[in-house]
Amino acid sequence: MKTYLVTGGAGFIGSNFVIYMLGKYDDVRIINVDKLTYAGNLENLKLVESNPRYRFVQADICDAQAMARIFEEETVDYVVNFAAESHVDRSISDPEVFVRTNVLGTVNLLNTAKKAWQTGDGKVDSYREGVKFLQVSTDEVYGSLGETGFFMETTPLDPHSPYSSSKASADLFVKAYADTYKFPVNITRCSNNYGPFQFPEKLIPLMINNTLSHKQLPVYGDGMQIRDWLYVEDHCKAIDMVIRGGRPGEVYNVGGHNERPNVFIVHTILEYIRDHVDATVGEHMIQHVEDRKGHDRRYGIDPEKIKNELGWYPETPFEKGIVKTIEWYLANRAWMENVTSGDYQKYYEKMYASRA
Ligand code: NAD
Ligand code: TYD
Repeated sequence: MKTYLVTGGAGFIGSNFVIYMLGKYDDVRIINVDKLTYAGNLENLKLVESNPRYRFVQADICDAQAMARIFEEETVDYVVNFAAESHVDRSISDPEVFVRTNVLGTVNLLNTAKKAWQTGDGKVDSYREGVKFLQVSTDEVYGSLGETGFFMETTPLDPHSPYSSSKASADLFVKAYADTYKFPVNITRCSNNYGPFQFPEKLIPLMINNTLSHKQLPVYGDGMQIRDWLYVEDHCKAIDMVIRGGRPGEVYNVGGHNERPNVFIVHTILEYIRDHVDATVGEHMIQHVEDRKGHDRRYGIDPEKIKNELGWYPETPFEKGIVKTIEWYLANRAWMENVTSGDYQKYYEKMYASRA
């Protein structure tokens, strides 16, 4: 039995990862540590909450005592650090919390795991056999591409937003722990994910929700910015493979050549809902609004390294994944109603009123 300490497991990708791992393996135990910020939702984990191989701990990754306690109580083999503030627009209006969770929280986790895994008298850097710290990062640390080329693991870091700067900073600390203390780490840098349980502050669930509720669809600027979309389960599979087979200290980019301009995404959602749910929705709902500050124009991943070394490939083509995703939101309207009541309304008004 291997024990995974998954942080941020009540969020979008984290909850998909917990469900994926417990479903795929019988010999995996998961400790999910999540602070339950606005983005954390235990509803996502209904399927696994009574699984005896699953445990939830509400805690902040910045809390050194709480993290140390978990390592005392459990024999942790792997840390998978998803916990983060994850939304670029929020980082533009409130950068500090991104530094706290994404940078200081990661360093706190590194310290705690290093202490717990250290063997011998501590004078030589050696760790329990088989342990690993996996940092879940993002392609946004590489900055923005022009019309051609792709992000490779060797592309220099050039983050632009406070969010991507905090993630790049965390990556550098993870690398520093590998270089300085020979700490066993991997970093994965994935492109934009979509799928079930994504909070509707992000493009795809926001557009699905607004279309279904007959609200305007706010496209930033000309809407020709490009993201490289990956179905969330393919990301979970990549993380699993990197934990099991990634070479110590290495970075792996994760993405599947699924580049689409934002307006294409919005049209795809509109057309599906028009044809299957509500014939009255349409392009008249699209509203081009003020652009995001410092908006990255294009992201695109070169996934050759993870393909060649670990045999990873994306199983879900965009055309299938987007239909599965829209269908999931249609079948889970109560989930959407729960997460959009209360504070979400205030967030939406604050974020979008100024853009109109
Ligand atoms: P999310 O915002 O949906 O979830 C983040 C989770 O972290 C939430 O459950 C939240 O409660 C928890 N959290 C926040 N601060 C915490 C703290 N201080 N202590 C403990 N828990 C805390 O994010 P997501 O989209 O699932 O992203 C997960 C990770 O993947 C992030 O590190 C993000 O940078 C990275 N990533 C995301 C994408 C994407 O497209 N969403 C792509 C590449 C990488
Ligand atoms: P987002 O889902 O926030 O992910 P990220 O900024 O991390 O890539 O945004 C994806 C793209 O969609 C990005 O180019 C910004 C754009 N966007 C809009 O045009 N309108 C919106 O309301 C949102 C949330 C995003």
